[in-house]
Amino acid sequence: MSLKSVKVATKAYGDQKPGTSGLRKAVKVFQQENYTENFVQAILTALGECLKGSKLIVGGDGRFYVREAVDLIIKIAAANGVSKLWVGQDGILSTPALSALIRQHGATGGIVLTASHNPGGPDHDFGIKFNIANGGPAPDAVTTNIFNISKSLREYSIVPDLAADISKIGTQTFTVDGRSFTVEVIDPVEDYLRLMKEIFDFPAIKQLLSGAQTGSPFKVLVNSMNGVTGPYVDRIFVVELGAPADNTVNTVPLEDFGGLHPDPNLTYAAELVDALRRGDYDFGAAFDGDGDRNMILGRKAFFVTPTDSLAVLADNLDCIPYFRRTGVKGFARSMPTGAAVDRVAVAKNKELFVVPTGWKFFGNLMDAGRISLCGEESFGTGSDHIREKDGVWAALAWLSIVQHLGKPVDQILRDHWAKYGRNFFTRYDYEGCAVEPCDRMMSELEALVTAPGFVGRQLTAGGKSYTVRLGDNFQYRDPIDCSVTTKQGLRVLFEDGSCLVFRLSGTGSSGATVRLYVDSYEADPATHGEDAQVSAAAKPRQHRAFSLSPELAWETQCLVICSIQSTV
Ligand code: G1P
Ligand code: ZN
Repeated sequence: MSLKSVKVATKAYGDQKPGTSGLRKAVKVFQQENYTENFVQAILTALGECLKGSKLIVGGDGRFYVREAVDLIIKIAAANGVSKLWVGQDGILSTPALSALIRQHGATGGIVLTASHNPGGPDHDFGIKFNIANGGPAPDAVTTNIFNISKSLREYSIVPDLAADISKIGTQTFTVDGRSFTVEVIDPVEDYLRLMKEIFDFPAIKQLLSGAQTGSPFKVLVNSMNGVTGPYVDRIFVVELGAPADNTVNTVPLEDFGGLHPDPNLTYAAELVDALRRGDYDFGAAFDGDGDRNMILGRKAFFVTPTDSLAVLADNLDCIPYFRRTGVKGFARSMPTGAAVDRVAVAKNKELFVVPTGWKFFGNLMDAGRISLCGEESFGTGSDHIREKDGVWAALAWLSIVQHLGKPVDQILRDHWAKYGRNFFTRYDYEGCAVEPCDRMMSELEALVTAPGFVGRQLTAGGKSYTVRLGDNFQYRDPIDCSVTTKQGLRVLFEDGSCLVFRLSGTGSSGATVRLYVDSYEADPATHGEDAQVSAAAKPRQHRAFSLSPELAWETQCLVICSIQSTV
């Protein structure tokens, strides 16, 4: 059947500015008249000369509104001269799998439908993110272009009568305005599984799990939190690695994540934490809605902070076949992430990069062959096998290390701290704040930490004294393309490597979220047994007060300043 595109008049929305990780808003915002259509058109228009004949990967985390959005993308892509779309069956693709597919097919880019770890459902969040040809999130120049186009959009093109069936694997070809347009519906897991098998030694991990290696099975519990990783986890852990089927839970992707907040941390993945505390599991892992975040636990729910996870992986990468082939290049972390990996980089004589928050800043370094591994404190870990963080990859990397070292997770951490010292890292989030007072707080704080005389000041906490080495608003100059990104968060660095960071979230769907990050370094082995989340030096006094006052942000300001001046 020959189909025709039509142009639909629309009015521009002024709020389609992508944040840290794409455009993320309440579902109801995306459901406004032409809202999703406008943004999809803006993404495609931003492709410029690459648009005609382009090939894109499309999929999402299975949350509410993914199916509607996939349908619109197919119709709008067809009208804009895109030649081919690969679409995950039923619209399902994890963010890392989508990144891998872009690279594997040499696609022009991809459209990721997710609000990551934010809850899903008609009253919750949705998101649209554009990834470029290297498989990673679009850099600032691209997202700024998309935003600018969205602000002056007057019409979009669509093929209203194009009906593609995304429930069946296979290829469907249409003729649109005399051109050929193909939709290939693919198994979401197949290609990703093949990639994981190239990276890791599956038979060795299988032996670890079955007990063939040590004489007793190594019991894992993997919780997909009703997000997109379920099908991946069932296939990899149960079918390929032979774990008992009840060792994977919440593996059916649900539109509302079964009411869960699919963020793998100690608060929202409490189900996993409790199960590990109660049961006799050796290893636990949880992933977020779209599968790029991970949390790793050892026996008795021993918590591996993302900061430590990155450092331990960096220290042991060469036990993974992929890195033996490619060689271990440098490492990178986002600025607020604890500095544990920095010491590994020094010991191994590798380059170490500190970039702003958001995975998009790692892409250039990977493309240029400067880093193999990178991570963020927000439960993101990944390598240059793709250009997104990768939850399932992180769990497999950890199992590879356990298998290789022949030690349980907690012992690996203790040995690591004994060798390198320990970073006690804590992040405090103050959500749902009013925007304007938070902005004021940040500017006053900036004036304070950049004032003459701030450097060199002695601050004490928990009987320990810290000398300020640097106070600034973090700015990053990309070493590859020389682009400069400013105002990425206020830093107070201390001489011993401890650090305080204040920044405003770029992923919230409404209002402002203030994040306070505290990283305190302890070389003294006597302190290493303390709880991962709280060290005496790290606990900021203002924690409680933040959520008490209606004039929240001003209270925050006073207390934060007071904490810098006297208690930290
Ligand atoms: C948060 C995390 C950041 C991560 C991003 C996307 O961004 O802090 O590390 O890259 O989500 O998953 P933020 O809300 O802090 O801007
Ligand atoms: Zn995510």
